[in-house]
Amino acid sequence: MTDTFTIAISKGRILKESLPLLERARIIPREDPETSRKLVITTNQPGVRLIIIRATDVPTYVEYGAADAGIAGKDVLMEYNGDGLYEPLDLNIARCRLMLAGVPGSQNGDGRLRVATKYVNTTLKYFSDQGRQVEIIKLYGSMELAPVLGLADRIVDLVDSGNTLKANGLVPLEKIADISSRLIVNKAAMKMKHAIIKPFIKRLAEVVGK
Ligand code: ATP
Ligand code: PRP
Repeated sequence: MTDTFTIAISKGRILKESLPLLERARIIPREDPETSRKLVITTNQPGVRLIIIRATDVPTYVEYGAADAGIAGKDVLMEYNGDGLYEPLDLNIARCRLMLAGVPGSQNGDGRLRVATKYVNTTLKYFSDQGRQVEIIKLYGSMELAPVLGLADRIVDLVDSGNTLKANGLVPLEKIADISSRLIVNKAAMKMKHAIIKPFIKRLAEVVGK
């Protein structure tokens, strides 16, 4: 199927910010992916389709070649750490920071710091690179609650305006990474489908001013 091109995107923030970029790159979905129940959405370009999946599943579809390309947050890519992927373009959308946060004035104490996060791999790497030992508590969302209820001493989560931290009495402590969404491409597809993918990357790069 070297004449089809499948792009994986997640609903919500990334979809909202990606669609205008795709449109300017002349890819327009035939129906609104935000409201449609369809998971495969055809576009105005013959053979080009969007698939709508969970944000954390985007690198998996692309690495295994079920999708040729995708749009995923750097937070998700750092955590996934796959090697069948190229990351040719920073789209500069869905920008935020991955941060360590906690209750203001709380001390590290003598014991091992307990950190709640859904970013287990990234958090372990961040602390082990500094020779700091931590205990990780894996959560799937609403991380801000963990220090408030004493489940953990700290959290690692995304921060944009800081409103969510503030609303829950937490403060940012250390920045782990700047985050934005990236175009990712399956390595084999980059070779096999370069006639479609190269111009696509070029057009998107022009759109985002790279
Ligand atoms: P899932 O469907 O797996 O639960 P999610 O709930 O994390 O995913 P979104 O909240 O739409 O999905 O986030 C998608 C991506 O958008 C994140 O991976 C991150 O890169 C970025 N992002 C998340 N929160 C913010 C934010 N507050 N401001 C800017 N970008 C954000
Ligand atoms: C994200 C993130 C934080 C919040 C930070 O959650 O997990 O909770 O945004 O943004 P802020 O600093 O501007 O408050 P989101 O709103 O995507 O909800 P989610 O937990 O459903 O992903």
